Amino acid sequence: MLKWILKKEPKASHNVAVQKGGEEFVYAVVENETILDSALAKGIPMPYSCQVGSCGECRCKVVKGKISQIKDLRYMFSDDEIANGFTLACQTFPRSNLQLRFDSPTQVKEGRIVDFEKLDEDLYKVLIRIEDVFDALVGQFFSLINTRSTSRYYSIVSLQKNIDNCLLEIHVGLKTDGVMSNWWRDIFSGEASRVIGVGAAEGQYSVRGKGNIISFASGSGLGVTVALITEYLRSNDAAEAAFFGVFRGGQSNYFENILSTRKEEFNGRLKASIIDSDEFYQRKQGNFAKKLTLDCPVLSGIKSKDVSGLICGSCNLVARAKSLMANLEVAEDKVSYDEFS
Ligand code: FES
Repeated sequence: MLKWILKKEPKASHNVAVQKGGEEFVYAVVENETILDSALAKGIPMPYSCQVGSCGECRCKVVKGKISQIKDLRYMFSDDEIANGFTLACQTFPRSNLQLRFDSPTQVKEGRIVDFEKLDEDLYKVLIRIEDVFDALVGQFFSLINTRSTSRYYSIVSLQKNIDNCLLEIHVGLKTDGVMSNWWRDIFSGEASRVIGVGAAEGQYSVRGKGNIISFASGSGLGVTVALITEYLRSNDAAEAAFFGVFRGGQSNYFENILSTRKEEFNGRLKASIIDSDEFYQRKQGNFAKKLTLDCPVLSGIKSKDVSGLICGSCNLVARAKSLMANLEVAEDKVSYDEFS
């Protein structure tokens, strides 16, 4: 094993030993710097991309030592993974000397894109077939790797498990500067190989309580959130859900379509409203506050009921929705969120 001992800095308070592949790097971390920031400043090769806790590239395991984290990482890790010491280097401060391990990438299975459908402006439904068993739940996410060696996490909207194969549904939002958007455009126009790599399912975006639900989602976060709400309302007859879709201009045919049958099925137990993103982010005055507090029966008595939160969308959407939930006194540990980079 190659061992590099880097020069100790006088201000450092903790030593971090990182095992990655066959190498070990030991470096000192300045107080209040994350493990990742400190490593990058010293030129230590660590996997990373977003640096804000969204992509999961810097996922690692704390083998020994104490840490603190910038934010609650339950959107990224299951309870078991958290109990087993998994964290994100970009969100972690050392609170003692540490031993960390970057496990070799999870086994990647070969998949094939078998179908796709346009749902809305720049939003597509994609079906992926894996000729193997795939252990996953709706709401978990996996790393999709294309033949151009680009990868990104996608949430599982539905999955059909068979004895020796699995069919996964994901929703893909195209962006002007998206990491994989150009590749997706080539897929949709038939100009790229449909063979892909599928990493193991991770995370745990799920309903955390037993009572009513309040939820905010946008873009490719809508499908998975509707799927979770549907599953929950079907198995909890007395529960109700308030679901707010955030859209520019306060309009989306997709949102209306996807929910019309569900509203009928749940006969008043599902209240869904579209919010203009400018109102949601308080860039303009609107009636969103009224929708949230008066028009939504599910929220009456919210303080006395066990209410769970579901949030899926961009970092900005998650931050704003979390603060709205805090205002509504939804307990922090009952809020589950899936944040996109
Ligand atoms: S670099 Fe840490 S989650 Fe993206």
